[in-house]
Amino acid sequence: MLDVNNFTTGYNKITIIRDVSIHVETGKIISIIGRNGVGKSTLMKGIMGILPPNTGTITLNNKNITKAKTYTRANLGIGYVPQGHGVFPNLTVEENIRMGESISKGRKSSDFEVIYNFFPRIKERLNQKAGTLSGGERAQLSIGRALIGQPDLLILDEPSEGIQPNIILSIGDIIKQINKELGLTVLLVEQHIGLIKSLADTCYAMDKGSIVGEHAADELTSELIQKYLSV
Ligand SMILES: Nc1ncnc2c1ncn2[C@@H]1O[C@H](COP(=O)(O)OP(=O)(O)O)[C@@H](O)[C@H]1O
Ligand SMILES: [Mg+2]
Repeated sequence: MLDVNNFTTGYNKITIIRDVSIHVETGKIISIIGRNGVGKSTLMKGIMGILPPNTGTITLNNKNITKAKTYTRANLGIGYVPQGHGVFPNLTVEENIRMGESISKGRKSSDFEVIYNFFPRIKERLNQKAGTLSGGERAQLSIGRALIGQPDLLILDEPSEGIQPNIILSIGDIIKQINKELGLTVLLVEQHIGLIKSLADTCYAMDKGSIVGEHAADELTSELIQKYLSV
C-alpha cells in the first residue's frame, strides 16, 4: 500500500531522516519503534507531506505522491493522528470530527456511526469542549476524527502517549478491531512494548534518523527491545 524509498527530509536545511525505506503491506499493522528524538515523527510528517522531501520517493497504491500536498494525501486515503493527538481543545468533540471531515472532503461519505461504534464515549460527549476530555478520550477522538473520511491507511504517532496504562490496552484492542473489521492498514509509531507486541505484524526500528532493524513482532526479544528502546 505504502512504499517509502530512500527518503530524506528534515527541518529547513537540517537533515533528520536519512535514506529511509519502509514497505507497508495492505491489511497489515506495521510499527516504527525507537527512542525519543530518533526521527519517528519527522518520518510521519514526511509521509504526510508536512515536511518536503529532500530526496527519495513515496508511493501510495502505486501512485507517486512524493510531491503531493498534505490534503491530497488525505484525499487519497491516508488518515493521520499526529503525536499528542492534535485535537483542537477549544472546539467541541463534534466540531473536531467535522474538521477531520473537511480534511478528507471529496473522498467518501462520512460515517459518524462507524466512529460511535468503536468509541461510544465520543458519542456521549459530542457537545463537550475537546480540551476537557481525559487523555484516553482525546486519543479516541483523534482516531475517530481520522476515521471519518474512511481512509485505507491509518497513521498513528504514539497513540498511547499520556494515557493511563489500563486504557492503553483497550485502545490497542480498538486499533486491532479497526484493522480487522474495517480492513484498514495501520502504520503505528510506538514505544509501548505491550502495544507493539499485541498489534504489530512487522516492526522497523529507527535510530539517529535511519532504519536500523526490521523484525517480525514475535521475534522482538528483550535484548532487541533493550537495544532499540532503552535509554
Ligand atoms: N519543528 C522542528 N524543528 C527543528 N527540529 C525539530 C523539529 N521537530 C523535531 N526536530 C528534531 O528532529 C529530531 C527528531 O525528532 P522527532 O522526529 O520528533 O523524533 P521522535 O518522534 O522519534 O521522538 C530531533 O532531534 C528533534 O529535535
Ligand atoms: Mg515522536
